[in-house]
Amino acid sequence: MARLVIVSNRISLPREQNRAGGLAVAVRDVLRRHGGIWFGWSGDVVAETSAAPSIRMQGRVAYATFDLGTVDHAEYYNGFANSTLWPLFHYRLGLVEFRRRDFDGYLRVNTRIAQCLAPLIKPEDLIWIHDYHLIPLGAELRKLGISNRIGFFLHTPFPGIGVFEALPRHEMLLQALCAYDVIGFQTDTDLRSFRHCITTLADGALLEGDQLSAFGRIARASAFPIGIDTDAFVAMAAAAAGAEDTIRLKDSLAGRHLIIGVDRLDYSKGIPQRFAAFAQLLADWPEHRSRATLMQIAPTSRGEVAQYRALRRELEGAAGRINSKFAEFDWTPIRYLTKGFRRHTLAGFFRLARIGLVTPMRDGMNLVAKEYVAAQDPADPGVLVLSRFAGAARELTSALVVNPLDVDEISEALHAALAMPHDERLARWNEMMSIVRKNTVQAWHEAFLAALAGASVAGANHSPNRLIRALP
Ligand code: F6P
Repeated sequence: MARLVIVSNRISLPREQNRAGGLAVAVRDVLRRHGGIWFGWSGDVVAETSAAPSIRMQGRVAYATFDLGTVDHAEYYNGFANSTLWPLFHYRLGLVEFRRRDFDGYLRVNTRIAQCLAPLIKPEDLIWIHDYHLIPLGAELRKLGISNRIGFFLHTPFPGIGVFEALPRHEMLLQALCAYDVIGFQTDTDLRSFRHCITTLADGALLEGDQLSAFGRIARASAFPIGIDTDAFVAMAAAAAGAEDTIRLKDSLAGRHLIIGVDRLDYSKGIPQRFAAFAQLLADWPEHRSRATLMQIAPTSRGEVAQYRALRRELEGAAGRINSKFAEFDWTPIRYLTKGFRRHTLAGFFRLARIGLVTPMRDGMNLVAKEYVAAQDPADPGVLVLSRFAGAARELTSALVVNPLDVDEISEALHAALAMPHDERLARWNEMMSIVRKNTVQAWHEAFLAALAGASVAGANHSPNRLIRALP
């Protein structure tokens, strides 16, 4: 296979691998198998954005990182990526902030990344760019004469047209997406939204199969639902069952059922409604008091963005109120932790939990849902309560699927899950597990890379001048 060059804003350096999130874990798996370059932000903020990457080899992977300057960090990362695109792509129009300065910063950083990356590219390389931070990167590379096959995968949802067109300059993002040879989405819903935008807002046309044409180019757009390394996670959870942390957690529960939620502290995750639903459960079914504990692990995230700070305050208040209302001298209803845990520790916690509570308002996929399923004891599996607005709900239809806005529905699902007979738990889990075993992270990247390798060579199907002229 051709050499692989993967670009993502956040990368997982070897020393941080135990703490990586979904995107980073998936990309790490691809590179472990294929080798190649992983290019991205070091996570460091300095006075000026790097002019060239710093490169370090680890096995068959070259980690190429750049530092972000303070202004770029504010405008590109905290600004357009996380105060504009993130809420927009998660259907939270009311939270979207748009500033031209941030948009310019976003384009400027993508231009800089292209300039840093281009000298590393060899003619046969396959280039795979990830997520909303880097939508313009493909077009920027094309401007520098890179005619390799370039693919893009969006880990978040792609919103419906009514939401997408609210974004000032949205047509530039569509045009930038069309600079790729393959554009990948998590679900058919996201794909449909994108195709609708292409035909309606960009005067594009849908061609045979997964092809579409717009802005003088032909690209392929498909859904590639992401998965986990299922065998590895199953083994990790089985091993973690006897680990010290798992045993300490089990002892601390003193025979109570554990309900677990694990999410970045993000308003897209529906955590306030989750807390409210647990409180509702305790109010409506007093038999669960002192019998079930909700443990919410929510490592703080994007703490410089106002909405994230507000959410943190809101959750601290909510957990305090619920605990003060229901707690007993030997039972705290909600354990709320804002620190992160290693993956194998989480695997053990998932296995212990009777309920995996995954109720985002919107989520591209949500790999916690798949990890929870994979971590279960096959002889005595727990129940997944899953938002219908997580991409994972398209596959895990045997979960108890809920609308995350409906607090009563979530509390009813919690009650049903706590009372669910063993046979039903087993049947639901077996159905979900067969899907988690089939749609793995390996299947995801093999499908995407096969589509990319099979795409016609970039230079052959587009008129670069037309594309480049219209971009700033
Ligand atoms: O997959 C969603 C995602 O936004 C990734 O792009 C990102 O790296 C991850 O969540 C964590 O967010 P952040 O990099 O802002 O900490």
